[in-house]
Amino acid sequence: MTMKIRGTGSSLPEKAVSNDDLAKIMDTSDEWIRSRTGIGSRHIAVNETTTSMSVDAAQKALADAKMGAEELDLIIVASISTDQCLPSTACEVQAAIGAVNAVAFDINAACSGFLFGLSVANAYFAAGTYEKALVIGAETLSKMMDWNDRGTCVLFGDGAGAAVVEKSDIGLISMIQQSDGTRGGVLSCRNRPVNNPYVQNDTALAFTKMDGQEVYKFAVRTVPKAVSQVLEKGNVSADEVKYFILHQANIRIIDSVAKRLSQPLDKFPTNLQTCGNISAGSVPILLDYVNREGMLMRGDKIVLAGFGAGLTWGAALLVW
Ligand code: ACO
Repeated sequence: MTMKIRGTGSSLPEKAVSNDDLAKIMDTSDEWIRSRTGIGSRHIAVNETTTSMSVDAAQKALADAKMGAEELDLIIVASISTDQCLPSTACEVQAAIGAVNAVAFDINAACSGFLFGLSVANAYFAAGTYEKALVIGAETLSKMMDWNDRGTCVLFGDGAGAAVVEKSDIGLISMIQQSDGTRGGVLSCRNRPVNNPYVQNDTALAFTKMDGQEVYKFAVRTVPKAVSQVLEKGNVSADEVKYFILHQANIRIIDSVAKRLSQPLDKFPTNLQTCGNISAGSVPILLDYVNREGMLMRGDKIVLAGFGAGLTWGAALLVW
């Protein structure tokens, strides 16, 4: 394995919307949302876009890595909510930060997007094609919600996270990725009209529909298995891992994964309480928080894991 994380950054919209705020505009309550999901509030983009948050997170990650944008030779943006089809968000980031030497493109692997992006970068490093990459997970999910469907719109938030990664002999220990398109119907986003109460005159392509219970079953069965697979592949025990940084879908999923891995909950940092589920943005935003809070020392082992629509899932075991 051939990749090391050099720096991280993140960006959240200014507007925070609490469960109580939502209860004023729909038939829901803080008690219902918090007890079933752990979510207390989320950030909703009003003036921000997927591109602007990606650029902000990218600049912070480069500063953290002490690397100039012109040193990058690859930019990957993972997103299911880009501002437009063309040009790609990655090309817009490239232009905005002045990464004149980078190849840039977007990928869509839903909540596993950041993990899949890391894996693509790692494959380029292993092949000897590129050496320094920026991997971003960014979403404006509020544009994809049916704000009349209280079963989905309360779960999600907006934001972006980024990591500067570099070819290295130490860092990534093991990684897995998987997809199962036969079960894709449990979480989908197809054509729709627009009704976001926080943004006027907006347009978007689709509403998110979810069979929550099927997604829950998928997550609690698949994530512990994926984490166990990277640990086994890397010959590392769960006890040796300092933090498990999981996609932030639901506190009950995280509790269940912790139990199945027989690990204490304090090894599972969370930000879903204030951010909700940011799909591809969840893992890099949380990683940036853990990094900036000084919770990681060089040599610490961490596991990153994403899971979501597709269905897709992936996990990575790294030495910090
Ligand atoms: N406020 C109040 N009541 C609500 C709300 C709400 N926001 N949403 C749904 N309800 C009501 C429903 O209308 C229903 O009422 P009824 O019994 O009168 O018909 C009742 O609550 C139960 O609805 P369910 O959808 O069955 O609720 P459930 O207990 O399954 O909880 C939840 C829904 C939290 C989504 C759960 O299925 C879950 O945790 N799923 C995991 C999936 C997940 O977290 N997905 C996130 C995105 S996917 C990803 O990132 C991988």
